[in-house]
Amino acid sequence: MIPKDTIHSIMDAARIEEVVGDFVQLKRRGVNLLGLCPFHNEKTPSFTVSPAKGIYKCFGCGKAGNAVNFVMEHEKYSYPEALRYLANKYGIEIEEQEPDPEEKQLETDREGLFSVSNFAQKYFTDTLFETEEGKAIGLSYFLERGFREDIIRKFQLGFSPTAWDAFTNHARQNGYPEKYLVDSGLSISKDGRMYDRFRERVMFPIHNLTGKVIGFGGRILTSDKTKPKYVNSPESEIYNKSKSLYGIWLARNTIVSRDNCFLVEGYTDVISLHQSGIENVVASSGTSLTTDQIRLISRYTRNITILYDGDTAGIKASFRGIDMILEQGMNVKVVLFPDGEDPDSYSRKHSSSEVEAFLATEASDFITFKTTLLLSETKNDPIKKAGLVHDIIQTISLIPDPIIRPLYIRECSEIMGIAEQTLMNELNKLLRKKRSKDAAAPEEPEEATPDTSIIAPPQELAPDITDCSAQERDLIRVLMLYGTQKFNIPVETEIPDLVEYSAISVAEYICNDLRVNQITFDLPVHQTIFDAFAKGVDEGSLPDEKYFTMHSDPEVTQLAIDLLSVKYELSPGWEEIKIYVSDESGDIGKLSEKAVLSLVHRKLRAMIHHNQREMKELDHNSELWVDHLSKDIFLKKALNEISRKLGRILNG
Ligand code: UTP
Ligand code: MN
Repeated sequence: MIPKDTIHSIMDAARIEEVVGDFVQLKRRGVNLLGLCPFHNEKTPSFTVSPAKGIYKCFGCGKAGNAVNFVMEHEKYSYPEALRYLANKYGIEIEEQEPDPEEKQLETDREGLFSVSNFAQKYFTDTLFETEEGKAIGLSYFLERGFREDIIRKFQLGFSPTAWDAFTNHARQNGYPEKYLVDSGLSISKDGRMYDRFRERVMFPIHNLTGKVIGFGGRILTSDKTKPKYVNSPESEIYNKSKSLYGIWLARNTIVSRDNCFLVEGYTDVISLHQSGIENVVASSGTSLTTDQIRLISRYTRNITILYDGDTAGIKASFRGIDMILEQGMNVKVVLFPDGEDPDSYSRKHSSSEVEAFLATEASDFITFKTTLLLSETKNDPIKKAGLVHDIIQTISLIPDPIIRPLYIRECSEIMGIAEQTLMNELNKLLRKKRSKDAAAPEEPEEATPDTSIIAPPQELAPDITDCSAQERDLIRVLMLYGTQKFNIPVETEIPDLVEYSAISVAEYICNDLRVNQITFDLPVHQTIFDAFAKGVDEGSLPDEKYFTMHSDPEVTQLAIDLLSVKYELSPGWEEIKIYVSDESGDIGKLSEKAVLSLVHRKLRAMIHHNQREMKELDHNSELWVDHLSKDIFLKKALNEISRKLGRILNG
């Protein structure tokens, strides 16, 4: 854990222009610096860095942040990783906070495991290149397979000797405790003896995101069918199979720049593709893809291309996993290799440019692929075909984007020769079923569900009315941009009909109003910012912009910079925004009132919705039901009141 003080020293020390300058060529333009945006493709620079504000903003793609955000985004680092990077750059020592004994033990254990894994990798690699046995058996195998030496070194491949305990002994002599040898799975302890898990196998180290070795796969070199082809490390404190992807540490940068990730089956497929110059590739290592692995990929791209060898049973078995990818909103393409070929064998037989061209021309959309493949198997059997329709529509219904779904319906209708409308009806049926199962689905009468008897046009799932995040964000925006500005509000006096005006800050108005109404925020980042303003109101000193843009919580800094950067005149020629801001700030009082009312309005609707849903579960004769009913009436009255006020503001 990095102490808060240290985080602040790091943020103080980090000069945005230097941090960005390590990756982007910047030119001075007035008080700011300008360069080509590293986050999207552009020919004329719109990526602006403001040393005074300590932030960057791209006027092309909208990305903005401070030095820490930049390192996180650019290097795909986690928050602590980014802080450590900057601390290192600026020579700031991080004195880690003393964790509790349990945490400490865990940390020590993890370090022990990392250390022994790293040691093992070096040992296996040395054995491969330096020993007679390694060269004769291991290295010659790799070279025969066509792996180049630079690629063998890049992937840190190795060889584990034939002897029963060669590695274990070597590690013990070097002071590695048995505990870590056993916990990492490198050694197996049986009947009081220790021996090596991997013997006479070529070794493929598995790395985490940052390139540390966390496990191994060891491939057999004989054709002994009684032994498994690969022996793999067991799971440990540092190796979680379902969260790791083979090759991700070498692939992540290219995945970002190519905006695509190739997914293959095995270690050797990854390695051979690298040798052909294709580096945005990872393997799920023989198991089917997990949601955690998909999330990992989705940190870098929304596009996955799955490379299949020609085994139909295997392909069909993978369809389920692919539904999961679609559900995450990712785009999936597939490439089918010719019979008997896999990415490894294919790239061995073809030149780099041929492989590249093959992948580019053969990639087809997953849903089209699935439809065509399954259709070819129905052989015009109407019952099988009906089953297929259901299967495909089910897959399409998982795609979260309502604009994309109808496009697939059209495509599939053409492939299957079934009317688009029939498929659309089927899809709508499924979506409705899903919606009624969905716990957050609205059931208020005002959000009437469409008549099911008519043919429904492509439709969007009704918006979630319990979601208040947009209104919350707008209110936070008003606080951020105008919190310190003052406006006059009427106050009643002792004398009837005499109204006086008193000046109040936007922050005071908003914070007090929301606190009186006991409104809390759903998103923690919104609550954090609101609390800081509320505290400022109470103490008579409001937090300034730097307080948020240099906050120790990266979510706060990111949001603050996103909201504030509209107003920073970072780029000459960005007048549009300036006009927008000054326009909006015309009537600051009205703006504040509208933001408060909109949020309260939304919160009330959400409360009514929750209350009504609880009522549905209750017995109509129960006391609790009556309580809910009166709450319903009360809330609706309040909602009416707010709607009226809101209407007056919007129209007046
Ligand atoms: P493959 O059998 O396709 O292996 O299994 P491969 O990596 O392509 O090896 P070559 O080309 O035959 O030498 C694909 C992946 O499944 C896992 C490994 O991760 C392998 O890379 N696997 C396979 C195992 O874990 N254990 C096994 O016994 C077999
Ligand atoms: Mn293979």
